[in-house]
Amino acid sequence: MDNSGSVIILEDVSKKFKTKSGEDILALDSVSFKVKHGEFVSIIGPSGCGKSTLLSLIAGLEMPSKGNVYVDGEKVTGPNPSKISLMFQEHTLLPWRTLLSNVEFGLEIRGIPKEERKEKAMKFLELVGLKGFENKYPREVSGGMKQRASLARSLVLDPEIILMDEPFGALDEQNRIILGRELTNIWLKIRNTVVFVTHSIREAAYLSDRVIIFTKRPGRVAKEIVIDVPRPRDFGDDKLARVEKEIFEQIFDSKQ
Ligand SMILES: Nc1ncnc2c1ncn2[C@@H]1O[C@H](COP(=O)(O)OP(=O)(O)OP(=O)(O)O)[C@@H](O)[C@H]1O
Ligand SMILES: [Mg+2]
Repeated sequence: MDNSGSVIILEDVSKKFKTKSGEDILALDSVSFKVKHGEFVSIIGPSGCGKSTLLSLIAGLEMPSKGNVYVDGEKVTGPNPSKISLMFQEHTLLPWRTLLSNVEFGLEIRGIPKEERKEKAMKFLELVGLKGFENKYPREVSGGMKQRASLARSLVLDPEIILMDEPFGALDEQNRIILGRELTNIWLKIRNTVVFVTHSIREAAYLSDRVIIFTKRPGRVAKEIVIDVPRPRDFGDDKLARVEKEIFEQIFDSKQ
């Protein structure tokens, strides 16, 4: 197997959970795939097929029942927050801190001096379009703005890998498209490796270099689609529409 350039490798990974009643649930079944350095990969598949579980395995928050996960050539044995940052559907901002001090939080933990911290946090708040809102508290801003702040908080740590679990899933379609576009623009500047879980076929096609489609539970890789459309992309692009159709058909098939 040629692993050169791969920053994330899943090798025949299965994950079984025990329910409270003692029953076994197979969430993921023999999943193998690789993600290259600087690649933007989306994961799409039916609810309950193990997408969030997959991110937890890459982040080292859960261990596989079978198979191995490697990050940067090393077997994952626990969380590695210096390399990997996570972003979720619901913002995880601290309500008692302003947006600025939320973005500074991770830097504070790393012991970065106050001035440098502020400078970095302001740079990323500006990048996500929140300049002028830095002194607001999470309750004072909209859902979209909270997700922008969460994004800034993930990016400011300059992680090698960002794992995003339906980060725009709670937003309305228009905000979702706007944030998707902005995420692409930011990503083109920073080029971190991104694994992005979404339920939106359109979002997956628009954002990704490659989309990995999963079957219903137990989640297996049903198909991988490479999206060879140069950026900046257009939401109405014909090529993207064809990719969307391909994803749609595959998801529909795997539900039979
Ligand atoms: N800690 C756990 N204990 C028991 N079962 C779990 C646990 N975590 C996940 N599961 C089960 O594993 C399966 C996969 O869950 P997971 O949350 O990864 O799915 P998902 O694809 O992210 O779904 P959704 O699209 O709804 O977010 C589900 O059946 C879920 O109930
Ligand atoms: Mg999930």
